[in-house]
Amino acid sequence: MALWGGRFTQASDQRFKSFNNSVRFDYRLAEQDIVGSLAWSRALVTVGILTEKEQKQLEEALNVTLEEVRATPEAILNSDAEDIHSWVEQRLIEKVGEVAKKLHTGRSRNDQVATDIKLWCKATVVELLAAIRQLQQALVLTAEANQDVVMPGYTHLQRAQPVTFAHWCLAYSEMLSRDDSRLRDALTRLDVSPLGSGALAGTAYAIDRDRLAGWMGFSCATRNSLDSVSDRDHVLELLSNAAIGMVHLSRFSEDLIFFNTGEAGFIELSDCVTSGSSLMPQKKNPDALELIRGKCGRVQGALTSMMMTLKGLPLAYNKDMQEDKAGLFDALDTWMACLQMACLVLDGIQLKSPRCREAARQGYSNATELADYLVRKGIPFREAHHIIGEVVVYAIREGKALEALSLLQLQAFSSVIGDDVYPILRLSSCLAKRNAKGGTSPEQIAVALAEAKQRLL
Ligand code: ARG
Repeated sequence: MALWGGRFTQASDQRFKSFNNSVRFDYRLAEQDIVGSLAWSRALVTVGILTEKEQKQLEEALNVTLEEVRATPEAILNSDAEDIHSWVEQRLIEKVGEVAKKLHTGRSRNDQVATDIKLWCKATVVELLAAIRQLQQALVLTAEANQDVVMPGYTHLQRAQPVTFAHWCLAYSEMLSRDDSRLRDALTRLDVSPLGSGALAGTAYAIDRDRLAGWMGFSCATRNSLDSVSDRDHVLELLSNAAIGMVHLSRFSEDLIFFNTGEAGFIELSDCVTSGSSLMPQKKNPDALELIRGKCGRVQGALTSMMMTLKGLPLAYNKDMQEDKAGLFDALDTWMACLQMACLVLDGIQLKSPRCREAARQGYSNATELADYLVRKGIPFREAHHIIGEVVVYAIREGKALEALSLLQLQAFSSVIGDDVYPILRLSSCLAKRNAKGGTSPEQIAVALAEAKQRLL
């Protein structure tokens, strides 16, 4: 039975019903709907709509329903209820009869669904924060286990300067720290209860909405009922957070996919997160990482969809807003699954340290050192840069690394070059010199790692 009907003389068209009904996706709000209903039943006692006894009856029935829902949430899908709010009310009527019909006094599905979504968002943010932290921990542990690995750092995907693998790991941990902070920030704004806003104009019962908010675990109640029932900023914010978080995971994946290529050969991914080709027996494909990178697209899509759905909606509630849930659920589920999959990938990753080191030596990634050397000998940087450019052209022609050129060959480009140049061209020297805060020197990395461990482990 629908929650409305008195005003209607004709039954809904079956096709409209299946178009309109939302229970097939909003069944996921069952727990939140029950928590909100429990609080609302208490509020109704304070305004004399329910007696203590009636409220107890409802509370018991709601708690039983909560247990049922927790045991088999999908059972809701077998009903033909219009939405989760109708479903909970139907269950209550089945369980306690007439008194259940009083529960919707002074409440609308508009403030109800807004409350349910916020409660769901709050719980989900907590889970996402835990998953982000786990991935950060995995990054820190991977960094620690491979602290001696040196590899090329890239700009424009050209070998630029050598970096440590730990530095790379900690870079992604930084991105995740910002994802964490963005979620916490969103949480403070969404922690405000819309319940008691009625359909749009406020409830006609003298309910203490702040107290009601506290019963559900919100910090306080919203200030404006029109805004309360039409606000979906928290959905947009969480989708934005997911969109940014997924961009991070996608870049993480792309880096590892590249490191895993035959051409780079810096890492080997575990058999547990790769798959084979049906045709080419030699293949081991980085599917887990490719899927993370691929799924980034649908999360960006969910954000754009929601922006477009809300754009141009007049105040207050409109049924368009029912479209918020599928995208929100899917995007946050996807983000969560990708965070977990990224952990699994790191779990079995093998670094090929000799190959990383060899690649770091190639590509003239110590050319900046040579320029800095000339600077220390009194040559202005711009001029030094030009001279070393010429040295590199020469070395490429000779098929040699900079450190393999003889002193005589080097001096042909600048007479200030002496024997003391060779130590500075070593990989260890390139790294050790980058010792200011945030740099790749072993000393800085040890500090960063210790600090990250203290924060995260
Ligand atoms: N299923 C609806 C939604 O998700 C619930 C609110 C319905 N309100 C209404 N006035 N029809 O938005």
